[in-house]
Amino acid sequence: MKRTKINAILSDDRHDYQACVKGWVRTFRNNQFIALNDGSTIHNLQLVVDFTNTAEDILKRITTGACISAVGNIISSQGKGQKYELKVTSLEILGDSDAEQYPLQPKKHSLEFLREIAHLRFRTSTFSAVFRVRNTLAYAVHKFFQEKGFVYLHTPVITASDAEGAGQMFRVTTLDMKNPPKTEAGEIDFSEDFFGKSTNLTVSGQLEAELAAMALSDVYTFGPTFRAENSNTGRHLAEFWMIEPEVAFNDLDDNMQLAEDMLQYVIKEALTKCADDIAFLNDRLADEEKQKPQQERSEMGLLDKLKFCVENNFERVTYTQAFEILRESNHNKKKKFTYLIDKWGADLQSEHERYLVEKHFKKPVILTDYPKDIKAFYMRQNDDGKTVRAMDVLFPGIGEIIGGSQREERYDKLLERMKDMHIPAEEMYWYLDTRKFGACPHAGFGLGFERLVLFVTGMSNIRDVIAFARTPKNCEF
Ligand code: 4AD
Ligand code: MG
Repeated sequence: MKRTKINAILSDDRHDYQACVKGWVRTFRNNQFIALNDGSTIHNLQLVVDFTNTAEDILKRITTGACISAVGNIISSQGKGQKYELKVTSLEILGDSDAEQYPLQPKKHSLEFLREIAHLRFRTSTFSAVFRVRNTLAYAVHKFFQEKGFVYLHTPVITASDAEGAGQMFRVTTLDMKNPPKTEAGEIDFSEDFFGKSTNLTVSGQLEAELAAMALSDVYTFGPTFRAENSNTGRHLAEFWMIEPEVAFNDLDDNMQLAEDMLQYVIKEALTKCADDIAFLNDRLADEEKQKPQQERSEMGLLDKLKFCVENNFERVTYTQAFEILRESNHNKKKKFTYLIDKWGADLQSEHERYLVEKHFKKPVILTDYPKDIKAFYMRQNDDGKTVRAMDVLFPGIGEIIGGSQREERYDKLLERMKDMHIPAEEMYWYLDTRKFGACPHAGFGLGFERLVLFVTGMSNIRDVIAFARTPKNCEF
């Protein structure tokens, strides 16, 4: 008999029909009631076993974590909290699970513990919900751009350029580390390396996306990116997924609108397609908040927060305005920031971003026109000579979720900025060529996908929204 998924059974109006279900046992009570989950929904299906007519050795093997297949009748349930249940007529154990050894007991485990058994944590309600939401968001990102006629571009993972000029890259090499070839000057000779030059894992697909946008007009990337920054925080990964649209003829205002429309679109999709998962995550977060002291609790629940973001325009503020708000804030005057706001030009820390979003504006904020010295070389220079057409989108509980800009399309200005910032212009001839041949105003941004998933699931650590996190000193699984 063909298997029916549990979500199909639970969302069907019918009952009193035969079905076959397969999945993993969450619990088995009173030698009679199995809570079965197959990952198609947050909800378990209750299976009722007639223990008087079932062999003792089969009953013994129905343990938490075991994989089973069952055939029976779907009937309307007398039990509380479920519409239907399956009255088992035949049951087969597909995979045993030794109850003594199985690490996932039917009780509440800490997220830290589950991170250590990330190979099994998909089987918990929380993580199955997180990964279904992640999936829906990824699909929604593609839907959003495809509906607008964007071309999905696959940019290389291995590159010889450092897009951000930040130098936090993972080297890719096939040289013998014990005995690398040396130049006359005694340095490692990368001309003998696989690509004939020094190469790294990409930190961003932006520069390549810009090349494509100069012909295809509207493109986006969605792929893995790598940063060897040694930040052990709840918001940084060494390997994360980024979405980078790049659009010819867009200025910064268009860019901000695109970012806002995209975020609202994908959050709305998650709210409708993953209503049950988000309801579960909403309650999970509410429980977690109850453990915190009153003043640390957030004012809004997860569902309220998501709806609020979808229904309200994002606040648009320049760096200079934000700087003044922060400098004059009581928080700053009472020295409550770790980094006090004092001199114009300083980079904002996440404590400042979160103050603006959570305390001052109480909504998502787009900060623009940052000082040029704290931003990348490719951002379009403003006439004031001090700022660039950058934008960061800041979200409650997250801080920076998007970074982007209008790009410098003027050849001379770009070249001058590259020289000032010691970006090797000769090696980047291909990037400069776009400014030589048919340049046009254009803009784009990068959305950190895991930060989006963090926001929508209400999880607090980025390690809990990617299947197998890569962070400093951690590359398990
Ligand atoms: O602000 P970033 O560094 O911008 C760029 O890479 C540009 N090339 C994007 C563009 O204009 N096309 O990174 C973009 C976003 C950040 O806002 C953040 O959400 C995410 O990527 N991000 C990280 N996410 C997880 N772990 C990290 N280590 C991240 N670094 C950046
Ligand atoms: Mg940034």
